[in-house]
This record gives sequence, structure tokens and C-alpha cells, in this order.
Amino acid sequence: MKKRENWSWRGAFIFAVLGSAVGLGNAWRFPYMVAQNGGGAFLIPYIFALLTAGIPLMLLEFGIGHKYMSAPPIAYRRAGKGLEMVGWWGNAASFVIITYYGVVMAWAINYVVHALNLSWGEDTTGFFLNFLRVSEGPGVLGRINIPVLISFLIGWIMVVAIVYSGVTGVGKVVMVTATMPVILLIVLAIRGFTLEGAAAGLDYYLSPNFAALSNLAVWRDAYSQVFFSLSVGMGVLIAYASYLPRDAEIANNVFIASLADAGIAFLAGLAIFSTVGYMAAQQGAAVADVAGSGGLGLAFMVYPKVINLLPGAPFFGVLFFLLLITLAIDSQFSLVEGCIGAIMDKWNLKRSTAVAAVSLPGFLIGLIFVTDGGLHWLDIVDKFVNSYGLIVVGLVECIVLGWIIGPKKIRDHVNGLSEIKVGGWFDFCVKYLTPAALIFILVYNLVIDLKVPYGGYPQWALNVGWVMVILLPVIAFILSKLKTAGEADEYMEEQN
Ligand code: ALA
Repeated sequence: MKKRENWSWRGAFIFAVLGSAVGLGNAWRFPYMVAQNGGGAFLIPYIFALLTAGIPLMLLEFGIGHKYMSAPPIAYRRAGKGLEMVGWWGNAASFVIITYYGVVMAWAINYVVHALNLSWGEDTTGFFLNFLRVSEGPGVLGRINIPVLISFLIGWIMVVAIVYSGVTGVGKVVMVTATMPVILLIVLAIRGFTLEGAAAGLDYYLSPNFAALSNLAVWRDAYSQVFFSLSVGMGVLIAYASYLPRDAEIANNVFIASLADAGIAFLAGLAIFSTVGYMAAQQGAAVADVAGSGGLGLAFMVYPKVINLLPGAPFFGVLFFLLLITLAIDSQFSLVEGCIGAIMDKWNLKRSTAVAAVSLPGFLIGLIFVTDGGLHWLDIVDKFVNSYGLIVVGLVECIVLGWIIGPKKIRDHVNGLSEIKVGGWFDFCVKYLTPAALIFILVYNLVIDLKVPYGGYPQWALNVGWVMVILLPVIAFILSKLKTAGEADEYMEEQN
């Protein structure tokens, strides 16, 4: 059998997983989720979701990738007859994320330059909308935005260079890309704490409102956040685990990765809200009023306004957008690597061919988001892939593992390697609890989305989102039916 690529040093895997997990989701999504969903009390549903869905799914994906030594499609193919499409499904969903994630990174690259002379001025919202030349709706695509295109291309060149260098290269790069955001966040948090008004910002962020816990939307948000943040359902974790040595620890890594991801998200909230509190104090306004709403607006509209007021503004502006770039890049190349691994394992392709096969379409399709209508489409696609695409993949994984392969098979594999033993709770989660939670989220989202059109977009545009969600399993099915080459089936033969 051909020797599989391996992580070249002991910490490479955990750094790579953390690099993938800790992404844009930690910096803009988590802090607002906490602030708007009961403050400190939100940590209860969040930890609950982490224990009942995040950790079991991470264990499941690490276990499958490691046991079957392959990226998702072939790992599932080896796990059971007819299961290959489950792997492709996750890869297809992650490919969708690949197409727009790099565009957000491209904005951040532009904003590093704008931060140098604070060229966003006082009206930071107007600047952002002008910078992207945002059109009146998804029906007006307009032209390609050249400054965004240039940084989009720069971002892709970096990603391609990293994944082209193979697992060894990725293992080296993550030493920097996984640690840099933490260092930058600590600097920003210390700066934030020392500012006047920080306490009010932190109070807004964390003061617990336990009444919020009776709201189902809060629980839905906790599960979605855990899902997106840990990179589960995206195929990445399976691919990364497949490059581990045979005697690697699995369970320890799951606990380290999931807790560190949550800790870093929490730190991002401290950094952001202490600074937002400062802005409120400067303007004599309430924190809730200056904080605005979360999402992209926080990073590109609210935060530049905060930066304007900071002593040493350009420096902290550059630092903040560098933070976004370093957060994004290793999440982006992890998603690309998951797809590259899938193609290489299925058709026994050279790495360079697989890199081209993923990156070129990823770049070209991504151009939609670089147009004047791009922001609308990014919002729609992000909404559908997160609310439905990934959650359905997670659900299918639970059903397949829980009811077809059998969770004990993976648990035994993991326990054979790890000091920490995974108990029967894992089987219970994978069979009942996690799928029940995921079904609840799906139904909840469906009820809301059928009642109120998301984001006020026209129905035809939202239908594009629905079609995309439906196409994911169709594409996965077709890919799973194509003939394999090389050693895809060799593992099965060896086992039988
Ligand atoms: N896990 C990545 C994030 O949080 C995708 O952004």
C-alpha cells in the first residue's frame, strides 16, 4: 500500500485542527451570540451543545478519518457499502463555504491597507457599502470589484501555495496561523481592558439573563454556533485525522480542540466588547446602541468606528484586520485540503492536479461574491449552507454511524488509542441525542424561514439557496457513483 502523508511533528494535527476551527466564526459570531442570547447565561446552552453535539461529532469524524485512513468519501466507503456519498456530501457543503470564505478574507486584506491611514473616515458603514459598491439587491450583479478581486487572488495564491506543499507544509504553516490570532486577540483584549468604559462593555457582553434560556431560538443559536465553529460536517476533521500516525491519541485531541475553540471565542468577546464599551463611553451612548448587530457589520462597520477613537488607531486597525486574515486563512485552507484529500483518495491523483481541480472552480465560482451584488449572495449562501447544508450532513453522519455502522465500532477504535476512555454516552449521543437536537434545529429553521423570507430577499433569490441545499446530496451521489482508482478499496480487502 502507498504510504499515506503524515503530520510531520506531534503538535501539527492539533494546531491544524485548531486553525480550522478557530475562524471568522469565533471573532464575529460568538461574541454577538452571547450578547444577544442572554449574556453569560448563553454559556449554559453553548456548553450543553458542545457536549451533546460538538464533542460527539468531532469524536465521530476523527474516529472515522483515523480508522479508515482516508478523506471523507473513501473513509465512508470503507466504513460501509453505499456510504461513500455521505463523505462527498460534507465535502460539497465545505466547497460552498470555500467559495465565499475567501472573499471575506479579501475584504480584510483590503482593510489592512485602509487601516494604515484610517481611510474609512467617520461614516464607516457608508465606506463599507461604497467599498463593495453594494447593489440594490441580488438581482443586480453589476461588475467585478477590482480591489476585492486583487486581494481575493492574493488570498487564493497563499492558500494554493500552502495546500500544494502537502500535509507537511500545512503542519508548518499552522504553527503561525493558529497561534497568531491568539496573540493578536490577547493584545487587543489587554488594550480593551485598559480603556475607559471597558467594564460597561463587558457587562453588556456577559451579565447573565437566565430568562433567555426559555427561548428556543437561544438553544438553536448555541447548536448552530458550535457546529460552524468546530468545523464539523465539513469533512475537514475526517481528512485531517486520516493523516495521523496509527498510534495517535484521538479523545484527548477532541477535548483540547473543542475547549480551546470555545475559550478563544470567549476571549474574542472580551477583546471586542471591552473596546465597544470604550466607544460607548466616548460617545456618551449605551453599549447596546453602539454595538449594533453582529455579523459582517461588526467587523467591517462597527469595529473601524471603534478603531478611529483608539489612541494609536492605525496600529490597532492593522492588528485587527491581520487578526481576521490569520483567523480566516487556516480555516479556508483546511476546507480546501478536505476536498483535495477527497479527490486524491478517490482517483489516486497527484496533489498538484487535485489542488487545481478544487482551487480553480473555487476561485471562479467565488467571483460571484466579488461583484456589486456579491454581498447579498454571500449572505444568502452563508445562511443556507449553515442553517441546512451542514446540519443535514451532521444528521446523516449520526444516522449512518448510529444505526448502520454502529457507534461502538468507532468508540472501540478511539478507546484502543487514548488514555481518556469514551463511555457509552457517546453511543447514546450519536444514536439519539445529537440527531434529536439537529432535527429540532432543522424544523425550527424551516418554520421560521417559511414564515418570514430570510433577510427580506425576494423569493426567487432564496430559492437559489434551497436549490443549492438540494443539489449537495445530488452531486454527492453522482460523485460516489464514479469509478474509483488506485487503492480506494484496498483497506476493505485487507480487513476482510
Ligand atoms: N470553523 C470555522 C469558523 O469558525 C469555519 O469560522
